[in-house]
Amino acid sequence: MRFLVTAGPTREFMDPVRFISNRSSGKMGYAIAEAARDRGHDVVLISGPVSLAAPTGVAMVPVVSADDMLKAVGGHLDASDVLVMAAAVADWRPARVSDQKLKKLHTSPELRLEATPDILQAVKPRKGKKVFIGFAAETSGLEEEALRKLVSKGLDMIVANDVSQSDAGFDVDTNRVVFITGAGASETLPLMSKRDVAERIVDWVAARGLAPGTCGRTPAPRFGNLAGWNERLAKQLDFIREIDKLKLVFRRTLLMDGTRFENDAEHSWHLAMMAILLKEHANVPGVDIARVVKMVLVHDLVEIDAGDTYCYDVSGNVGKADREREAATRLFGLLPEDEGGEIRALWEEFEARMSSEAKFAAALDRVQPLMHNYSTGGSIWRKHGVRCRQVLDRNRHVEEGSVVLWRFAQALIQDAVERGYLETEG
Ligand code: PMT
Repeated sequence: MRFLVTAGPTREFMDPVRFISNRSSGKMGYAIAEAARDRGHDVVLISGPVSLAAPTGVAMVPVVSADDMLKAVGGHLDASDVLVMAAAVADWRPARVSDQKLKKLHTSPELRLEATPDILQAVKPRKGKKVFIGFAAETSGLEEEALRKLVSKGLDMIVANDVSQSDAGFDVDTNRVVFITGAGASETLPLMSKRDVAERIVDWVAARGLAPGTCGRTPAPRFGNLAGWNERLAKQLDFIREIDKLKLVFRRTLLMDGTRFENDAEHSWHLAMMAILLKEHANVPGVDIARVVKMVLVHDLVEIDAGDTYCYDVSGNVGKADREREAATRLFGLLPEDEGGEIRALWEEFEARMSSEAKFAAALDRVQPLMHNYSTGGSIWRKHGVRCRQVLDRNRHVEEGSVVLWRFAQALIQDAVERGYLETEG
C-alpha cells in the first residue's frame, strides 16, 4: 500500500522572523511513517519543521506553512491509498505578512488572524476509496470532539488524542488515544509509546483491507467504457456504482442494538419499509406509497458528496443547502437527462415538504431516528446534550404527515424523558 503521512507543526509567518506555531515535535507522524515502512509499504512523509532525523526508506517532503502542506498533500494524494494526517496544522495565520521585519514600536502591533486552509476538508472530495485517518488532540470532550471531526472531515478513523496530561500528546514519546471509526466502533488504548500507537494504526488499516480499486491498482473503468453498451445504459450503470457510496456515509444514529453507527443506505431502506408497512397511518388516505418509497430511497443521495450533518449541529448546518444542491447537480447529472430530472424532482419534492407524499416521507424520516435513539437508551442524545424541547421542536412536523405517528413520537419522547434517556431543560 502507499501511505501518505503528515507530521509536525506548521509555521505561519507574520514577518521574515516571527511566526505562529504549536508544540508538535513530529514524533507521532514519524513513528507512523516508520511503522508503515517496516511493514513493506511505500511511504511519503510530509513534515513541518521539526528536529527529527529523516527516516531512511521514506520519501520526505519538507513543508513550512499550512498552505505548503495543502499543496504537498494535494500533489501526492492521487498516488496514495492511505492518508494519515498526524500533523498539528496551525488553525490560524496572520492575515497580513510583512516582507520586512516588523519594527518594535512604542505600541504593540495589532495581530489580525485568519483561518488556514483545512487540508482534510480540501481533499475530502478526492477521497474515493482511499483510507483517510485524522487525529484530534483534545484537552476536554475528547470523544465527542473527535467524533465531530471524524464526521465533518469525512474520515474512516480518527485517533482521539487525550493531551490533558503531561505524559501524552505534544512533544513526548507516549500517547493515550481512542480509535473511533466511521463504522461507529471505538477502542480505548492505554498509555503506550508512539511507535506502538503507530503499529496499531497500521494494523487497523491492514485489517480493514482496502476496497477493490485501491492498493495501487488502477480504479476499474467506467461501465460505459465496455464495448457494446449503449450510452443510456452505461450512464445508468455508472450511477448505480456511484450510489454505492451511500453505504459509506455514516449517520449519528446507532443501530437499534447500539453496536455501530447506521449508514445512509440502511436508513433509506428502513424508511422504505416503514412507508410500505405504515401507509394506513398517513394523514391522506390516498397517498401514493410507491412515490413515497421512491422519495425516501432518493432523499439522502446528495449526502454522498455533501456528507451527513448532525441535525443539532448548528455550525455544521451552515451552507448545508448549497452543498446539497451542488451535490444534486453532480450526482443526478450522471444519469440520462430524463431520469436525472425525475430523481431530482423527487428529491426537491421531499425537501419542499409540500405534497402529501413528501409530508408522509418526512414524518417517517423523523420517526425512524427517534426509534433508534430510544432503543439505544438515548446514548447519542446524551452524548450531544440534546434536550427534550429540541427533539419536540425538530420533530413537530411529523404531524403534517401522520397524526398517528406524531402521537407515537410524543409518547416515545415523554417516556425517554421519564427513563432519563433525554433531559428536560436546565
Ligand atoms: O508531533 P507530536 O509531538 O508527536 O504530537 C503529536 C500530535 C499531538 C501533534 C498528533 O498526534 C495530533 O494529535 N495531531 C492532531 C492535532 C490536532 O489537534 O488536530 P486538529 O484537531 O486541529 O485537526 C483535526 C485533524 O484535521 C488532524 O488530523 C489535522 O491534521 C487535520 N487538519 C487540521 C487543521 C487544518 N487546517 N487542516 C487539517 O487537515
